[in-house]
Amino acid sequence: MKAYNNDLIAGGGINLVDVKIRRFHPGKDQHPYYSWFRVESAANQTVLDILTVILQEHELSLSFRFSCRTGLCGSCGMIINDEEKLACQTLANTLGQEITLEPLKNYPLIKDLTVDLTTSYSKYKKIAPAFAKNHDGSISGISRYLKHFPCLHCGLCYSKCKVVAIQPSFLGPISLHQMYVLEDLGKNPFSNYRKQMATHEGGIFDCMSFGCCGAVCPQSINPMESIHHLQHKWKK
Ligand code: SF4
Ligand code: SF4
Ligand code: FES
Repeated sequence: MKAYNNDLIAGGGINLVDVKIRRFHPGKDQHPYYSWFRVESAANQTVLDILTVILQEHELSLSFRFSCRTGLCGSCGMIINDEEKLACQTLANTLGQEITLEPLKNYPLIKDLTVDLTTSYSKYKKIAPAFAKNHDGSISGISRYLKHFPCLHCGLCYSKCKVVAIQPSFLGPISLHQMYVLEDLGKNPFSNYRKQMATHEGGIFDCMSFGCCGAVCPQSINPMESIHHLQHKWKK
C-alpha cells in the first residue's frame, strides 16, 4: 500500500504520476526506505522538473544533483525505472504512471539520489590524462582529443558496469574509453605507463564485454568498443 508524502487530489484532465524515491541519509537513517509522491505531470516535463516540484512543494530535505538542465554537465544521472539516465533528458510522460528513482550504483552514497563521483574521477586521473608539448609550446593533439572525447563524466556507464560492481579495482568504462582516445592520438610519452596500467589487474582484460556501458551513454560513446581496440593493441 502506498503512503503518499503529499495530498495532491486528481483534478479534471490533469495527468498524475506516482513518484517513488529511494531515500537514505548515511549516518542518520538506519535503513534505506522509499517515499511516495503524487504529482502533476505536464507534457514536456522532465524527471528533473518533477523532482524540482517535489523539492520545492513537498519535501525540502530531498537530495539530488543538477546544474545545466540541458544534458551538458552530466550531474543529474540517476536510475529511472531501473535504467541509468540523465533526469534532465528524460521526459516523464514516456515512463508510465509510476516512476521509480534511485541513486547510481557503484558510487558511495551521499544522500538520497546524490552519489559521490570521486571514485571514477580518481581512476580517470590514474590513466595519465596528460598531453605532450610540441616544440612551439602548443599542446599536441588537444583539439582532436576534445573532438573525440565528448564524455560528460556523468557516471551512467560506471553505474551500469557489472565488473566494477564485483571488482572495485577495475578501471571502468570512463577511464578505459579515455585511455583509448589518448592512445589514438598517436605516439606520446605516457603510452608505456598506460600500457602497464591497462594490462595489469583491473585493466582492459578484466572487462567482460557485457556491453551495457554503451547502451546507457547519453553521448553515444561505446566504451566496450574502445576497450576492445586497446585489447587488440596490447594483446597478451
Ligand atoms: S563492456 Fe566492459 S566496461 Fe562496459 S559495462 Fe561491460 S564490463 Fe563494464
Ligand atoms: S562514457 Fe557516456 S555514460 Fe560514461 S560517463 Fe561518459 S558520457 Fe557518461
Ligand atoms: S542537469 Fe546537466 S546534464 Fe542534467
